[in-house]
Amino acid sequence: MARNKALQDAARARQDEFYTDLRDIEHELMYYMPLFKGKTVLCNCDDPYESAFFEYFATSFNILGLRKLIATCYAGSPIAQQQLSLFEEDTPAPKRKPYCAQITSLEDFNGDGRKDYLDVEYILQHNVGGSCKVLEGDGDFRSPECLELLREADVVVTNPPHSLLREYIALLIEYGKEFVILGNINAVTYKEVFPLIMKNQMWLGVSIHSGDRKFYVPEYYPLEAAGCGNDDEGRRFIRVKGVRWFTNMDHHRHNETLCLFRKYHDDPSKYPHYDNYDAIEVSKVVDIPCDWLGVMGVPVTFLDKYNPKQFEILGMSGTNFSEGVPACHVQGTSRNAKISGKDIYRRIFIRRIGGIM
Ligand SMILES: C[S@@+](CC[C@H](N)C(=O)[O-])C[C@H]1O[C@@H](n2cnc3c(N)ncnc32)[C@H](O)[C@@H]1O
Repeated sequence: MARNKALQDAARARQDEFYTDLRDIEHELMYYMPLFKGKTVLCNCDDPYESAFFEYFATSFNILGLRKLIATCYAGSPIAQQQLSLFEEDTPAPKRKPYCAQITSLEDFNGDGRKDYLDVEYILQHNVGGSCKVLEGDGDFRSPECLELLREADVVVTNPPHSLLREYIALLIEYGKEFVILGNINAVTYKEVFPLIMKNQMWLGVSIHSGDRKFYVPEYYPLEAAGCGNDDEGRRFIRVKGVRWFTNMDHHRHNETLCLFRKYHDDPSKYPHYDNYDAIEVSKVVDIPCDWLGVMGVPVTFLDKYNPKQFEILGMSGTNFSEGVPACHVQGTSRNAKISGKDIYRRIFIRRIGGIM
């Protein structure tokens, strides 16, 4: 049993090793640029030599007006294993430790006259305007020394291990941090995550709403699915569906009003009532009617358009966290919404705020 658990943990850890493309980071973070001024940014699942998050913040350090940039790297990362030879050349690989890089100022150290350009490797290896130290522990974001860095940070920005996303988000909330992180849309169904969205303590980002995204992977990662391969520089990549940014930092999208073009009263038969919840079914977000002020069940993709000034979220089917949605006759344990006895896949229950539009 213990051996099984160890194998499962190892398999899960290997699945967590995929690295974000710099362009995806740039496309999202451009919407928050003024919000970083004077702040300490922490990337706590990021090898500073490899992470495009660290690269983004290091190369934009002066443009964003950051106070400090911190990145910590996890012992399990295969990149950490390779790169640590830079610091502990005589230490055999299994004994090497992960490290923490910090940048506090940007001098024109290479004399090229550009104060806002940074050669990441140079600064880390020569301790110019920053430092790179081996960590005491394994670089786990939950370890005491990493929690100390979390305490110091204002904003956390990274793509954390997806298998630990519940715990990761819970920690950011517990420590009261601002964050912009990547995860999978399925995370919104977690009991630790959905209540945060309901209470408007977390929402989706701006730039990713559909399709898949490219992530770089280590040598061992299987390239089985369609769309995987090697890019022009020979880097191996996979494509992952359902990726979303999660944040609690303000952006314009979160305040945009969704235009509603349909009317319930034009054809009520298009909006059947659930058997077991006192709400109507709206199977596509574009079909949300402008003349219905009762409860509606909508697909999870509604969250891509959610403006808390326009709608309130009351709960989710398939869970037991529905606040204010009368569940008429929920039977069994699935709690799925049903129409004529047929299960309807996961729905979010919403209600419009304000009158008829
Ligand atoms: C999805 S990858 C993303 C890596 C990097 N943040 C990026 O976006 O390119 C998640 C990373 O978290 C690291 N990781 C896994 N478990 C961790 C833990 N408990 N604490 C800190 N980092 C962890 C993995 O080694 C992996 O590199």
